[in-house]
Amino acid sequence: MFLNIALPKGRLGNTAYQMLKKAGYSCAELEGDSRKLVFENEQTKIRFFLVKSSDVQVYVYHGVADIGIVGKDVLDESGIKVLEMLDLKFGICSFAVAGKAGFTYDTRHILKVATKYTKIAAEHYSKKNQEIELVKLNGSVELAPLIGLSDVIVDIVETGTTLRENNLEVIEYFYNSSARLIVNEAGYRFKQAAIDKLLKKLEFEVEQVRGKKDD
Ligand code: PRP
Repeated sequence: MFLNIALPKGRLGNTAYQMLKKAGYSCAELEGDSRKLVFENEQTKIRFFLVKSSDVQVYVYHGVADIGIVGKDVLDESGIKVLEMLDLKFGICSFAVAGKAGFTYDTRHILKVATKYTKIAAEHYSKKNQEIELVKLNGSVELAPLIGLSDVIVDIVETGTTLRENNLEVIEYFYNSSARLIVNEAGYRFKQAAIDKLLKKLEFEVEQVRGKKDD
């Protein structure tokens, strides 16, 4: 029986694959230059699906992938319920509210918030009991406060370069994200031994990487 893993295309997926490879789950075919989307290793009984990063949890939720690697930000924004089994401790970034340097909120008006992450932003302000107006964007969110589309943005900050280069400042950090290994609940019952084995090996790799960072 194969273990099916949904791997996101891009940096997060590449780092995850390197970690899986070190843990003994390599797939030579995947390392070649190909436009294929399904790759198998007959010996280790692993099958990789290469998917768009925002779709990983969809494949896992529907059970066509037993395991997926996804950013916590993407997972939470999707609202899809899957088992979150392991924090892989890479792809680390923080959610922040940011605005133009020196921005102060005039409480007589409803705060206008531009973001790609409307669910996460809405939850954040709902916890504070603050009414907001959301503007959903799909990218280049930093532009919004600069040209008056919004008062602030809710976005992920990794190095802080994008904010700095656009004269924006963090008003508050409220949430951290990193790559997570997710599992389909029903699939876990059927393939628990194989999944637990993979989890144990990956856990060891995560600790190895952490150990090296702490040196
Ligand atoms: C993300 C995020 C910020 C930037 C943060 O954007 O939305 O714009 O990265 O990274 P930094 O703190 O290291 O500068 P992404 O690269 O996904 O592009 P887009 O949202 O504009 O499409």
